Amino acid sequence: MSPAIGGTLNRVDGRAKVRGDARYSAEVAVTGLVHAVLVNATVASGRITAIDTAEAERADGVLAVLTHRNLSRVASVPKLLPSLAGLAAPGQTFFPMQDEAIHYSGQPIAIVIADTVERADHAGTLIRVEYATTPSTTLLDQARDQAYVPERIFGGLLPGQASRGDVAKALAEAQVCVDATYRFAPNHHNPIEPSASTAVWEDVDRLTIYDSTQGPNATQFTVAALLGLPPISIRVVSHAVGGSFGSKAMIWHHPALAALAARQVGRPVRLALTREQMFTSCGHREEQEQRITIGAGTDGRITALRHHKLSLTSRFDDWAEPSLQSPAVAYTSPHYEGIYHLVRGNTITPTFMRAPGEATGMFALECAMDELAERIGIDPLELRLRNYSETDPESGHPWSSSGLKECYQRASELFGWRDRDSRPRREGQWLIGSGMASALYPVTQPVNPQRARARLYNDGTAVVEAGVSEFGTGVFTAMTQVAADALGLPVERVRFVGGSSDLPNVTAAVGSTGTSAVGSAVHLAATQLRDELIRRAVADAHSPLHGADPGTVVVRDGRMVLRDHPDVGEAYADMMARTLTPDAEVLGTWTPPPQDAGYGVHTFGAQMAEVAVDADLGVVRVRRMVGVFAPGRVLNRKTAHSQLMGGMLWGLGQALLEATRMDPRSGRWANASLGDYLVAVNADAPDVVVDTIEVHDEVVNPLGMKGVGEIGVVGAAAAIANAVHHATGRRQYELPITLEKLL
Ligand code: MOS
Repeated sequence: MSPAIGGTLNRVDGRAKVRGDARYSAEVAVTGLVHAVLVNATVASGRITAIDTAEAERADGVLAVLTHRNLSRVASVPKLLPSLAGLAAPGQTFFPMQDEAIHYSGQPIAIVIADTVERADHAGTLIRVEYATTPSTTLLDQARDQAYVPERIFGGLLPGQASRGDVAKALAEAQVCVDATYRFAPNHHNPIEPSASTAVWEDVDRLTIYDSTQGPNATQFTVAALLGLPPISIRVVSHAVGGSFGSKAMIWHHPALAALAARQVGRPVRLALTREQMFTSCGHREEQEQRITIGAGTDGRITALRHHKLSLTSRFDDWAEPSLQSPAVAYTSPHYEGIYHLVRGNTITPTFMRAPGEATGMFALECAMDELAERIGIDPLELRLRNYSETDPESGHPWSSSGLKECYQRASELFGWRDRDSRPRREGQWLIGSGMASALYPVTQPVNPQRARARLYNDGTAVVEAGVSEFGTGVFTAMTQVAADALGLPVERVRFVGGSSDLPNVTAAVGSTGTSAVGSAVHLAATQLRDELIRRAVADAHSPLHGADPGTVVVRDGRMVLRDHPDVGEAYADMMARTLTPDAEVLGTWTPPPQDAGYGVHTFGAQMAEVAVDADLGVVRVRRMVGVFAPGRVLNRKTAHSQLMGGMLWGLGQALLEATRMDPRSGRWANASLGDYLVAVNADAPDVVVDTIEVHDEVVNPLGMKGVGEIGVVGAAAAIANAVHHATGRRQYELPITLEKLL
């Protein structure tokens, strides 16, 4: 029996999804179901002065129309980010329909509940609203002068600024200086499945919510705090989630609104967001700009790095995607300063999106590095190698594991970087160029213990459970493999069950922590169950293993055997049948190491890209991408490969396509549809080569996993932008790189 970990097990949820059998949150069959539709504010700032719902209430099929006048008040509003770990401490942030104030366009102002979604939708159009509007801020340029440095960002988890050494002095003394500002259009996640919640009150204090979420426990705790109920009153189920990319990480307003509506009409309520509502209901990547100043010697050695980010947040949260963490440690730099600046605007609070923070932060750094290489006349890869840091430059601690140099090496071979002509090439009207970038992403440890339960039945099959949801990452598949290896069972005899808050608590899967956090708990639970069964066998006078040292017993294919005499032993099933044991169960708890445990913990990689730019039309075609990453233990080569490739293609989208455009006159997104918001499709996808470098990491968690969810995105856009510069001689300071910027 070969180990399942490191293999290529097909997605255990694949069959149900391909056949259309998977049930998403808006598809669950519920008796007596009625439908809720949100009505959204059409102005960005001000207040409601009048709202007339009489006609809507009289419309066919309508059960109720709820507004700030008659919706129940919420008990408390938990801080967005800590709620992901079940910490429902009240703080900043906002819940709609509590008063007449309007903070952003798209803010929910009414809920219509009717027997069909079409009738609810129609009745919503009959509501008459009058507003007193006030001037709004929806673009950075409207309020740069009001920027402030927040005390803390990211739900209070990170400081608003950090520094080491004396960056001003070091920059003043630097022989070479690169100073560049990069602008990023807002981006929206656009998962295929829009968010939806189906709320069913089984009793006055028993609520089930079927929710498309990255964390069923996070939804449970957040809704509990909002409704003023204990967590025991709320069960959250996520059977299947159709993609997320960060949009279903925070617990937004709709699950609680569905629950409140269901309680008020006394019927189960389904609230499914429309595609357009997804642009104003689930956060987005904020409009931002980042200024990078690098001071270096003429040999390319970096002496100082200054990194400032300016971004647009909501009226009620100090939110910035943390873009400064990876750039701060990517290279040796004795002097460093990183500062977040925020402008308050009329928007929902922005949120995580695809390699949150570092997708933009590393773009800025890696483009500036390319400029530095050009300035001092050395190869961009050579510049990275000269500044490679053997230790975490911030703490001075060793890396828990790196592999970065090996990634550069392998990417270089796969791409043919050394044969690259430093001058651009021309093929007819196509200008050909190549570029590279480093990829770094922090390894974030969950703040709370992660739990999983393993249960073995007396027929030798096992169920392993944790409250994680499957939103397309392949986590259920990887967990099946982890459990199978730890129990010594073939994968066919293991079933992983997730997607419910009734299961052992794990943090919402964000920031590439999902598989490693849950995997560590699953590994511990399954290992402890195996050890427990071995202990029982060696203590049982009727077992062939009686009296053996448990340390010498291994399990293969469900049989506990002596390692050195594999013919001596018995199957789990035989021992359980003999001892009249129907099943055996263990709850495993993994306590993550503290974030500062004496190591720098990051994931590393290298990206290279070749582009062709049409000299007349400015069209950019990415021809080849190579990404090599060192994500620690790879649980499933197939799903990891596809996560990493998906990340690289999202990087391509970030570079060339993705932008949500704000119309500042109305304060509304101008392209809130999948027809107008461009994402990369197959026709955009070039020849993509993905490879991994094996690094062994004993610090991060028991299996040495660092995660593959984000690292594939990081650096991809910078490699493309650097390739565009190589091809055209024009630096790109704004994403996406649309063709008018190249004409
Ligand atoms: Mo991920 S973008 O941190 O949910």
